[in-house]
Amino acid sequence: MTRFPGEHFHSFGTARFPGTFVTRRRPTAALSVVLVGRGRVGRALARSLRNPGSSREPTARSRSVARPARGRALDVTLLPGRALDSPTARRALSSADVVWLAVPDAAIEPTSAAIADLDVIGPRTVVLHSAGALGLDVLAPLASRASLGALHPLVSFADARHPPPLAGTTFVAEGSPASLRAARVLARACGAHLVVAPGLDRALYHAAAALLANGAAALASVSLSLSERAGLGAPSRVRRALAGLLASVASNVATLGPTRALTGPIARGDVASVRRHLAHVDRSAPDASGVYRDVGRAILAVAELRGLDPETRDALATMLATPAER
Ligand SMILES: NC(=O)c1ccc[n+]([C@@H]2O[C@H](COP(=O)([O-])OP(=O)(O)OC[C@H]3O[C@@H](n4cnc5c(N)ncnc54)[C@H](OP(=O)(O)O)[C@@H]3O)[C@@H](O)[C@H]2O)c1
Repeated sequence: MTRFPGEHFHSFGTARFPGTFVTRRRPTAALSVVLVGRGRVGRALARSLRNPGSSREPTARSRSVARPARGRALDVTLLPGRALDSPTARRALSSADVVWLAVPDAAIEPTSAAIADLDVIGPRTVVLHSAGALGLDVLAPLASRASLGALHPLVSFADARHPPPLAGTTFVAEGSPASLRAARVLARACGAHLVVAPGLDRALYHAAAALLANGAAALASVSLSLSERAGLGAPSRVRRALAGLLASVASNVATLGPTRALTGPIARGDVASVRRHLAHVDRSAPDASGVYRDVGRAILAVAELRGLDPETRDALATMLATPAER
């Protein structure tokens, strides 16, 4: 645990709410951040904010509050989303500089209303939600009581016990000037980039994020199944191999952009290889034939952007057409 001269730490509240972490740092120079909701996002953010500037993930029960290399120290409290009327929650909320909601989308508005009913926060408090798809309207119950914003980590949080590293990711913010200042501090503490996007078409933005994150996971599932049937080995080994492949794609997308990141037979216009793929998939894994063709057509569209010649494109398009289109 990192301590600084003159600091004092204490904690409370763990008996009633196992997994509730309350860590205070005195004197009160630290920015007091209250995360609400101990799910995948809330726990991952709490861990990262408690360990600013480090790629090392501390344990869930870490009580350390470290000072970021730059910026203010953070005093982080993780509260249960469904029990905000406890003395612990009231105390934490009443001294919060920032309240960051990490509850399910449908619970954001009721949770805002519950916080408003407590009557413990004032207009200097920033309240953020972390939903990608929702605007600030879901925080309406707090409109006259707090400074509002949305801060969406553009990250896939799949399992609370395995939080993804946040360093190098991007958080997307919109809201009041005070909320954007808070967002900058929080993103920096997590090692994330901040993109401020006022007036974002949030449904379209979220569709883009969900398509990539969930499409990649779904494709990995199909690929895992094909690789196992092909004889690559035990699922754990195949999983590691596919994760390595995905990481190389992520690296290429970051360095080259998605069009130049495209590799493989469709990008090369290698009609013979695609024909062989299709023959083997149709014979050995017919359940994946549709996915191969559907995704193949999406790959072909990107290959066209790279300048695939029209004759080769047409030959591949015919092979990748659904039976009804042929
Ligand atoms: N998962 C992702 O990949 C991801 C990525 C970016 C943003 N987000 C956004 O982050 C927010 C939280 O998502 P999540 O994936 O962390 O959800 P989650 O894993 O389901 O956790 C949400 C937590 O909120 C609390 N909660 C559940 N029902 C509640 C209710 N009715 N009222 C108040 N609190 C309730 C629970 O914690 P307690 O036990 O403490 O009550 C629960 O663990 C959502 O707005 C989501 O859109 C998610």
